[in-house]
Amino acid sequence: MTEAVAFPQDRTCPYHPPTAYDPLREERPLSRVTLWDGRPVWFVTGHTAARALLSDQRLSSDSTHDNFPLPTERAAKLRRRRRAALLGWDDPEHNVQRRMLIPSFTLKRAEGLRPRIQATVDRLLDAMEEQGPPAELVNAFALPVPSIVICDLLGVPYADHAFFEEQSRRLLRGPTSEESEAARTELEGYLGDLIDSKRDKPGEGVLDDLVARQLQEGRPERRELVELATILLVAGHETTANMISLGTYTLLRHPERLAELRADPGLVPTAVEELLRFLSIADGLLRVAREDVEVEGTVIRAGEGVVFSTSVINRDTTAYADPDTLDWGRSARHHVAFGFGIHQCLGQNLARAEMEIALGTLLRRLPGLRLAVPAEEIPFKPGDTIQGMVELPVTW
Ligand code: HEM
Repeated sequence: MTEAVAFPQDRTCPYHPPTAYDPLREERPLSRVTLWDGRPVWFVTGHTAARALLSDQRLSSDSTHDNFPLPTERAAKLRRRRRAALLGWDDPEHNVQRRMLIPSFTLKRAEGLRPRIQATVDRLLDAMEEQGPPAELVNAFALPVPSIVICDLLGVPYADHAFFEEQSRRLLRGPTSEESEAARTELEGYLGDLIDSKRDKPGEGVLDDLVARQLQEGRPERRELVELATILLVAGHETTANMISLGTYTLLRHPERLAELRADPGLVPTAVEELLRFLSIADGLLRVAREDVEVEGTVIRAGEGVVFSTSVINRDTTAYADPDTLDWGRSARHHVAFGFGIHQCLGQNLARAEMEIALGTLLRRLPGLRLAVPAEEIPFKPGDTIQGMVELPVTW
């Protein structure tokens, strides 16, 4: 075994796993990493082992468990106190929460949203073209697309976007746990008021459906509804925004792949799947073992923490030939970029529709799209959170 590497690490290139994990990539399917508090935890790198463990209910998602492997002191303070709806729960409770949302996130529902997503994307690109070139793509496009779409779907007024985007940023990346806690309180206060107003004046969003269910069945209770609304709003725009910005950056850094996509727009859905695998932006899924679990000859003991590096798992050579190459010719569909098992991303159908329309339309409408400054000067996000670009200056 190599000496334990600290987790998390910053990426050295925004679309590759951190080079510090290179020695661990050889040590499939499990190795060890050390957390900020010096605690050793398991680090899952093998694709088959990851899928087995992520669907094993003896591994828990309860972030309030003493040994839950939280990646930073800030996250530990925040998530030890209170766990997020859905993500922080195990079945059967998790299943009760998830079942309330499933009808709103089916493939059919996502397909039905496509015309509205297309209209949003077109509108944002019209504005960008009117004002540019150049443009800063994160704020002009990558963030507003999913933000407008999730508002529309949930029934949250987009006019308030500056407020909740800021709270969401502080919640995920605030410098201290106190700041993140304050952002959560603000966001929950805002969503609580919104939900209360929907009781008297119902609309057509997912939150309105949940309010109706509450009035009929008593569940979700108000507090639960607010927590569900919070996770949907936060998870619904940050992740997809990062996929659009980092996806665009990655395409611009791979001119041959970009040319192939431009020549054959029918490749876009395949390309989105391959980008999900290649970029693995939610890089670090966390669990704690409730019981001993054996996987491929190794025993994870009850009480031990387990970290899944999706970026490393999605580049396992036993699952993908030549995994460090971006390749539209492969079928990447079995990647774990959306997780696996009971917590597999609820918004994945929606996210795919958004990414296909956003990236496909951007490339079609701006054939001369390119970076406006040297690639090395463009800042990207640090390693303890969801990966993505901080800014993306482009021209065309
Ligand atoms: C490309 C964009 C996205 C990526 C890469 C992504 C990734 C993930 C991953 C990896 C998980 C599993 C976490 C775990 O097992 O610990 C997850 C869960 C989840 N995602 Fe996404 N997500 C994306 C977009 C969305 C969108 C648009 C929504 C919309 C509401 C959403 C809502 C959720 C929710 C609610 C969960 C928790 C599900 C559960 O615990 O049952 N995500 N996502």
